[in-house]
Amino acid sequence: DRSVKIAPSILSADFANFGAECQAIEDQGADWVHVDVMDGHFVPNITFGPATCAAIRPHIKGVMDVHLMIAPVDPYIEAFANAGADIITAHVEAGPHIHRSLQAIRGAGAKAGVALNPGTPAESVEYLLDMVDLICVMTVNPGFGGQKFIHSQVEKVRKLRAMIGDRPIHIEIDGGVTPETAPAVVSAGADVLVAGSAVFKGGSVSNPAPYGENIRAI
Ligand code: DX5
Ligand code: ZN
Repeated sequence: DRSVKIAPSILSADFANFGAECQAIEDQGADWVHVDVMDGHFVPNITFGPATCAAIRPHIKGVMDVHLMIAPVDPYIEAFANAGADIITAHVEAGPHIHRSLQAIRGAGAKAGVALNPGTPAESVEYLLDMVDLICVMTVNPGFGGQKFIHSQVEKVRKLRAMIGDRPIHIEIDGGVTPETAPAVVSAGADVLVAGSAVFKGGSVSNPAPYGENIRAI
């Protein structure tokens, strides 16, 4: 489905080659580049911060979609906006003041996203709908690539799409997206699919064609 955007997660890329990896996935048809920021506190893994985002920014022509799996969020929003993030997504579980965080993201000039862990109900974003440009439904517990898709989340996507109504809000799916799991979430109303392991498998910067094949297969 051409109206569905594919956002490869560079969590599955070669960390010593982010610039070339971002160029390769865009050349191979990626719509957005999804950047997973982890702090070893909100999630049990550590990736990188705003300096790395700023370094890769010039290598991305399109949308840099930054997913913050960090707590607290607010002290770092400006740094990620200054690094060139087009979209900054914060977790509803990351602190007591998600509404304030979303205001701060828009205030810093970025589009605002809110992410929900698998155990968090759709209703948790009901009073945030006028604050967000994107809702990220986690279909794995965040922290690692290559995990198994959690099917109970398809129903959450359907609920969210109904709740959103005609507001211009993306529903993004993150975790375990493959050619097998994608159709159910797309028919439930998702329009952005993050995929890490399913995009990067079999390819590399010196052999990028598999990235394109994998993107087209989703
Ligand atoms: C999980 C990250 C995801 C992850 C997806 O914590 O937010 O973006 O990289 O990886 P796959 O597609 O391999 O599940
Ligand atoms: Zn992510």
